[in-house]
Amino acid sequence: MQRQFERVRQQLFRQLLWVVAPAILAALGLAVTAVSCTTVTRALVVPPTIPGATFIGSAACADCHEEIVRDFHTAVHANLQARGVNALEVGCESCHGPGSLHSESGGEPGTILNPKQDPLTCYQCHLTTRAAFNLPYHHPVPEGRLTCGDCHDPHRGPAVKGAGTSLLSGSEGCYECHTAQRGPYVFEHEAMREGCTVCHVPHGSVNAKLLTQRNASLCLKCHLVERQPGGRVLIGGFDHSLLLAQGACWSAGCHEAVHGSQVNSSLRY
Ligand code: HEC
Ligand code: HEC
Ligand code: HEC
Ligand code: HEC
Ligand code: HEC
Ligand code: HEC
Ligand code: HEC
Repeated sequence: MQRQFERVRQQLFRQLLWVVAPAILAALGLAVTAVSCTTVTRALVVPPTIPGATFIGSAACADCHEEIVRDFHTAVHANLQARGVNALEVGCESCHGPGSLHSESGGEPGTILNPKQDPLTCYQCHLTTRAAFNLPYHHPVPEGRLTCGDCHDPHRGPAVKGAGTSLLSGSEGCYECHTAQRGPYVFEHEAMREGCTVCHVPHGSVNAKLLTQRNASLCLKCHLVERQPGGRVLIGGFDHSLLLAQGACWSAGCHEAVHGSQVNSSLRY
């Protein structure tokens, strides 16, 4: 009786913390320091809860999910694992919630959290990511059309899918869905070799098309501007003095084929 009461009390306390912790963090201005998860201390992060369930530790998951547990040490999030009896909830259950009911029931549906359905468990540690998806232009994760798991592998290897597989590294993952940008192009834009994130932010942006910058400075970080006497502005050796006032490099009817062109070496359609 006493133990059961204690368990319910802890449960309620956890649930309460889960609800109020973000508010408290925000109020204390701690959100800013907690965002880089490497600086998140366990004391600040409240693991997800499932009513009536307790933490059983990652080893217990191996009975039925052998492969995931076997490869998990290669995952970025394996660093979350700690040793000792008081550290059971770090590991699989830091994302999936306490697994006792799930395990006892042999994996009944509805007994465990799956971030595929709701990224809330990711946001508990990655506060800035949540903020990014609230920006006016974002990949439609909040709308449920994409999940974190479409771009990130939580269970093995590099956290960003496609990273480290080729020179293009990060871009491989983007090509999975944006096949048009892969080309091949007759006139390739060499900027693409640096990866999509030179120009796009992956989560969300204040700029349309998820651009890192909304104007010519997006392009001028690589293309040298030469200012000549008399006010002439050269880019790529070509006089741009009048052109720059007409809009962004890609929207002023000039370099619309910014990813690459089939017809024009100056990246025009
Ligand atoms: C006694 C066997 C058993 C144990 C132990 C077990 N699971 Fe499962 N689990 C299953 C079965 C069966 C399914 C449903 C089929 C599938 O997806 O493999 C499942 C499904 C899942 C799912 C997907 C659920 C969904 O709704 O999409 C997750 C997540 C999961 N398990 C995580 C865990 C974690 C974390 C642990 C350890 C804390 C664990 N499991 C321990 C048997 C088990
Ligand atoms: C960083 C958070 C995180 C951690 C830690 C984590 N998972 Fe997952 N898990 C996910 C996400 C996200 C998905 C959904 C993947 C998707 O979108 O396809 C998932 C899905 C699953 C599923 C459903 C079947 C599948 O493969 O998609 C199982 C089973 C599972 N996880 C077990 C585990 C086990 C066992 C561990 C510990 C070794 C673990 N997870 C650790 C985030 C995590
Ligand atoms: C319990 C806290 C916690 C949860 C929950 C969590 N993460 Fe993390 N995550 C971390 C920490 C800590 C790191 C940094 C690990 C390291 O570098 O040692 C990290 C790293 C990452 C990285 C890699 C960052 C980099 O620079 O390589 C990605 C991507 C990521 N997490 C995505 C997710 C996703 C997606 C989910 C939900 C499915 C999730 N995380 C859930 C704590 C968490
Ligand atoms: C459209 C693909 C995509 C989706 C969807 C996505 N991410 Fe990312 N995420 C990336 C890429 C690419 C990077 C690497 C950025 C870089 O290297 O500059 C990244 C980086 C991260 C990082 C490292 C820190 C940072 O912000 O750079 C974290 C943490 C992270 N993502 C969490 C998440 C979470 C949580 C979700 C779901 C709510 C999510 N991501 C959804 C593509 C995505
Ligand atoms: C799993 C599929 C998927 C992956 C992977 C993916 N995206 Fe997307 N992307 C989408 C969807 C869906 C949209 C929304 C399209 C819409 O609203 O019609 C989108 C939208 C965009 C847009 C805005 C397009 C517009 O017309 O406003 C850009 C830019 C973009 N993605 C770049 C990237 C980059 C860069 C990566 C790699 C870091 C990436 N995407 C990875 C599915 C994906
Ligand atoms: C040199 C900068 C740059 C690089 C690198 C870049 N993009 Fe873009 N991207 C842009 C600009 C600028 C636009 C906006 C074009 C417009 O509004 O007409 C754009 C638009 C998009 C769109 C919206 C559809 C369209 O064509 O207008 C998608 C999707 C997209 N980019 C995906 C990607 C992917 C995937 C990669 C990596 C393989 C990538 N981009 C690399 C600059 C870049
Ligand atoms: C990551 C660096 C980088 C960024 C950012 C970048 N470029 Fe480039 N761009 C290059 C490189 C490298 C070349 C090939 C060498 C050259 O011609 O300067 C190139 C070539 C070009 C060319 C072809 C020049 C020719 O006639 O041969 C045009 C046009 C161009 N870029 C336009 C743009 C526009 C517009 C943007 C902004 C949307 C942009 N670039 C952003 C690196 C970049």
